[in-house]
Amino acid sequence: MDKRPRRLRYNPLVRELVKETVLELSDLIYPLFIIEGNHIKKEISSLKGVYHFSIDCLEEEIREIVALGIKYVILFGVPEHKDNKGSEAYNDEGIIQRAIRTIKSITQELYVITDVCMCEYTSHGHCGILDQKGYVDNEKSLYYLGQVAVSHAKAGADMIAPSDMMDGRVGYMRKELDEWGYTHVPIMSYSAKYASSFYGPFREAAGSTPAFGDRKTYQMDYANSDEALREVSLDIEEGADIVIVKPALAYLDIIRRVKDHFNIPIAAYNVSGEYAMLKLAVENNLLDEQAIMETILSIKRAGADIIITYFAKDIAKKLKGLS
Ligand code: PBG
Repeated sequence: MDKRPRRLRYNPLVRELVKETVLELSDLIYPLFIIEGNHIKKEISSLKGVYHFSIDCLEEEIREIVALGIKYVILFGVPEHKDNKGSEAYNDEGIIQRAIRTIKSITQELYVITDVCMCEYTSHGHCGILDQKGYVDNEKSLYYLGQVAVSHAKAGADMIAPSDMMDGRVGYMRKELDEWGYTHVPIMSYSAKYASSFYGPFREAAGSTPAFGDRKTYQMDYANSDEALREVSLDIEEGADIVIVKPALAYLDIIRRVKDHFNIPIAAYNVSGEYAMLKLAVENNLLDEQAIMETILSIKRAGADIIITYFAKDIAKKLKGLS
């Protein structure tokens, strides 16, 4: 018998017929950075093609995103005022709360997700509240993070995404959201979040580099894989609706293990450093542009249902035949 795998490769139509993974725009979430001030649309130097927007400059961007067919955004805020409790994070008039209301007044077509964390809002840059010795106080942090989640929901957020990595925060936020009547707001939890050097450009963009120490006491060791399954399992028990693996590319094995072990939607965060590397390589003609599709598709092939990526606009243009 003639066993030739190539039989299914000769004709482009048959290649299409047997294609296993297809990337769709509805798989992608596009991150947006919102900054205080007026008339600001400024490229983030470490993230080519990604900008800081002040709220008054959001409209044009939002209209472009919708026109490209992108349906989901995740918001990050860069406040002017930082303090040790990160109080701008749960201020109903804070940067994110105003941005959500502005976006919702521009369009109802965009699904707005918010990142819930303290690191952009605290003067020390850690993801929670510190105790007197300078360690993150898990229980105290939960109280404040619960307030942040509710305040985002009040402003109109469609989904919240806790990225702080405190223990028990999914259950705590679920309880708070339910008590305030936001039972319909899902939680997409950063469940397996590694202490990674690939967040470098984001920390510049969000002004969230810790003033001292690092995040290794609350983010995961990149040597570990079983631990990711324990984290995911706890978050599911606490009520997470979607779990995130972050970063994506150096962690494709983790995405696949989570996919094989659990029956829950998985999002992978293709983080700032991963974007910067590839974007620079393509812009400098070291790699062909196809490398972008190939890379993002690999995340889906590994098992992610959803991909959070700064490439969303580039991919939308590609899928629409605009580039
Ligand atoms: C906030 C947060 C970070 C990222 C998303 N949410 C930074 C961090 O944990 O240090 C990183 C995203 C990226 O690098 O694109 N905690």
